[in-house]
Amino acid sequence: MRILTVVGARPQFVKAAVVSRALRAAGLEEVLVHTGQHYDHGLSQVFFDELAMRAPDHNLEVGSGSHAVQTGAIMTGLERLLLADGAIDRVLVYGDTNSTVAAALVAAKLPVRLAHVEAGLRSFNRRMPEEINRIVTDRLSDLLFCPTDTAVRNLAAEGITRGVVRTGDVMLDATRHFGALAEERAPLERLTRHAPGAYVLATVHRAENTDDPARLSGILQGLGALGRPVVLPLHPRTRSRLAGTAVPPAVEITDPVGYLAMLTLTRNARRVCTDSGGLQKEAIWLGTPCVTLREETEWVETLEGGWNRLAGADPERIVAFAALEPDGAPPRVGEVHGVAASEAIARALAEAD
Ligand code: UD1
Repeated sequence: MRILTVVGARPQFVKAAVVSRALRAAGLEEVLVHTGQHYDHGLSQVFFDELAMRAPDHNLEVGSGSHAVQTGAIMTGLERLLLADGAIDRVLVYGDTNSTVAAALVAAKLPVRLAHVEAGLRSFNRRMPEEINRIVTDRLSDLLFCPTDTAVRNLAAEGITRGVVRTGDVMLDATRHFGALAEERAPLERLTRHAPGAYVLATVHRAENTDDPARLSGILQGLGALGRPVVLPLHPRTRSRLAGTAVPPAVEITDPVGYLAMLTLTRNARRVCTDSGGLQKEAIWLGTPCVTLREETEWVETLEGGWNRLAGADPERIVAFAALEPDGAPPRVGEVHGVAASEAIARALAEAD
């Protein structure tokens, strides 16, 4: 069984790192393709280094561009690769980026069978490019690996039940695996001058926030009024939109940080404020309450007990929600008892025809 894995953006490197290990352990051969969607060292190579991933077999080096340009370039490069190889049994894609949907379209049309990790997530907001990417990718996949029960139900509601496997969340595997390493390799004192619990960690990169000046300034205003320092490692997309926007003195902007540093910063933060999908769950797995800077979340389980609250870009809601304490133990998001998600995925791939 030869699997061609396609990754391109920061969170996909983390997911693929744990699944690749499980594929190897299950005796499956993997060809790793990096689309080049993320190319800055801090968004790409640092993850390969920290996660001890082998170098990609191919890098399509597509870089930035409009959705059509980026998606089209990935499709062209990947089709060429798949045709030249001729012996790929299945294409494996992750999440909801342009790299995901481009690979899905190419695989489905050649055709090569397609498996999707993180299938079934929905925000029900089609203005998000990620939502379009998810819907198309799930529709084209023949193996759909769901992190949560909600994801399974979302697919069923769209009439997709064949090939659906509830595996749990591979990001939980990654948090568990790399969490211990993070304290040792990326200790807090090397990342910030703030003590544990004395700062808020924030990230902002979604197009709906970065490309709308009113939302971006609402978020910054809210973060600036939390009464604590805010550590804000900034995605290049957001940095490029900041010109002319006032950044409050409490908000400390840094370059993007690696995965291990992010785990340490998350675990030790008083609160996490984010529009990232993955970070909402990582916060909860590491015991830190989250305020989500969006109007909806695909990870509805995180909302239980107020461990995650949806504040949108409204400064007053951001401040009010960050001050609230959650009730009870953190929800167990993305857990399936007994088997790690990455192992369940490797097993399902090994057993599939
Ligand atoms: C992409 C995904 C998003 C995911 C995020 C993780 C899509 C539609 N979006 O968003 O779902 O949560 O990755 O980080 O696929 N840029 C750089 N250096 C880089 C990469 C990007 O400077 O290495 C800048 C460029 O100006 C680029 C912009 O960021 O135009 C946006 O990059 P892009 O890859 O299109 O989307 P992300 O915002 O990273």
